[in-house]
Amino acid sequence: MSAALRQAQLHSISQGFADDEMAETTIDLRGVPLAEAYDELAGQTEAVLEGIDDTVAAMATISALIHHAFGHLWTGFYRVVKPGRLLRVGPYQGTLGCMEIEFGRGVCGTAAAEGKTVIVEDVNAFPGHISCDARSRSEIVVPVFDAAGELIAVLDIDSDQPATFGDADRDGLERIVKWFAKEAA
Ligand code: SME
Repeated sequence: MSAALRQAQLHSISQGFADDEMAETTIDLRGVPLAEAYDELAGQTEAVLEGIDDTVAAMATISALIHHAFGHLWTGFYRVVKPGRLLRVGPYQGTLGCMEIEFGRGVCGTAAAEGKTVIVEDVNAFPGHISCDARSRSEIVVPVFDAAGELIAVLDIDSDQPATFGDADRDGLERIVKWFAKEAA
């Protein structure tokens, strides 16, 4: 464990949480090396959702953990409500998100249509980007699959800084959303 991660955990403890309650707290992971931060988040996701197979509870929990770990602008899910055609907003953290996005439109619709993670360093340079918050500068959208390999949602994260997301985020987030293929009912 790096000194930065231990420091983040100690900060949570100093806020009144005991060591054995760590899995139940949202830890600020800014400053922790990304691979290690995502390891921690993956572990927290498993721990907090232990015994739970509820998709909505998982989307809400994962949004909260990621959002507060990194201080992002917006973190949440768009759910597939018409396969191949339409996404609708799901659990999220941040300012009001747009309600519906068609497959193929914006960053979310592109990731849904392609079934692949999309990283956008500059949202203003992305054709068709849908702006829900004028402060958004960069974005990552990760597809979410169920155990049958069907696309059930996308995880969308917006940053108010340019070029926030890279390969370590893709790897870490794709790992976290594997929960929906393993545990969801
Ligand atoms: N920017 C996204 C739309 C969703 S919001 O950012 C919450 C997009 O282009 O798909």
